[in-house]
Amino acid sequence: MNDATGGPRARAGGTASAVAARISLPTYDVTVAPGSLDSVGDVARRVAPAHRYAVVTDGNVGPLYARRVVESFAGEPLHVVDIPAGEAQKTRANWGQVTDALLDAGCGRDTTIVALGGGVVGDLAGFVAATFMRGVPYVQVPTTLLAMVDASVGGKTGVDTPAGKNLVGAFHQPVAVIVDPAVLATLPLAHRRAGLAEALKHGIIADAGYFDRTAHDPDSLWIGAESDRVTALIARSIEIKADVVRRDEREGGLRKVLNFGHTLGHAIEAASGYALLHGEAVAIGMVLESELAERAGVADAGTAMRIREAVQRVGLPIDRPRAVEASSLLAATRGDKKARAGSAEYALPRRIGAMAGEERGWGIPVDERLVLEVLA
Ligand code: GLY
Repeated sequence: MNDATGGPRARAGGTASAVAARISLPTYDVTVAPGSLDSVGDVARRVAPAHRYAVVTDGNVGPLYARRVVESFAGEPLHVVDIPAGEAQKTRANWGQVTDALLDAGCGRDTTIVALGGGVVGDLAGFVAATFMRGVPYVQVPTTLLAMVDASVGGKTGVDTPAGKNLVGAFHQPVAVIVDPAVLATLPLAHRRAGLAEALKHGIIADAGYFDRTAHDPDSLWIGAESDRVTALIARSIEIKADVVRRDEREGGLRKVLNFGHTLGHAIEAASGYALLHGEAVAIGMVLESELAERAGVADAGTAMRIREAVQRVGLPIDRPRAVEASSLLAATRGDKKARAGSAEYALPRRIGAMAGEERGWGIPVDERLVLEVLA
């Protein structure tokens, strides 16, 4: 975080939009502030003035929050485009439909897109922005905990295909990310917990104290969704992620660490037909991949147990769905974006707070027999 104090600033008297934290990446700021939903229009007009604005949202979030965002544009020409909610909607077909809706509305290269929703809306609208007229600006306004702490930051955009998750996409950085923790008040508990999976992941990657704090007394987190504790949790996660993205925006090396839990997690999520939330699948993936790290002699003994306990404590699943064959999961990992020469690579922890594999560019090949043992 670029705050001079080195930590999240306290909110001044709880006033709406008092900035709790601002984290700067090379080309944009992430602002975390309860009430900041009402500033989206001001921010978008300042950082990416446009002839038209387009708000892309989904059937869950739109009815709750689109009106406030629209009003924040104070009468500027603006279109709202809805997609159905759910990971199963992150498709090329919906990319085409949103693109066509913008074209039908007369949007041109001087359009700024606002992605209002969770990771699906952010990834899909971001991919539309990456490709529309060869690229237009977009603002991320994440409304799920998972999108706040992870997906909205770092410029990964894309869609799923029948062969796997996120297999078509582009790096396209947003021009601003505006996080309003107060909107978590309407997020179902399962989705809040799913977001904690990515927060735990950031702790495992870089900050053992943050890992412990995130897993400590998780039920009390939700007493007030916009509490200072939730705001601090979001800000620290973004800070850890931003620190990685600043150093390796296009995943040439270091950024691979952010994929911890995702090689098996993506395979499990796709195999569940997206019945599992992304964060739930990542939680299971982290449990399995930390076990793999110990068996491969990469992680300190006890690392996997601590991760398993933390995942359980925050109310996330630790076991993969048994209906899916281990061999099918293994096959899916070979088609993952992270695979090289047809073999999966893993991002694995050395211990809580530090990742292994720097000497190999942060991607660790693992004998498939070990993976099968862990899946057994
Ligand atoms: N969610 C992993 C990344 O953004 O690199």
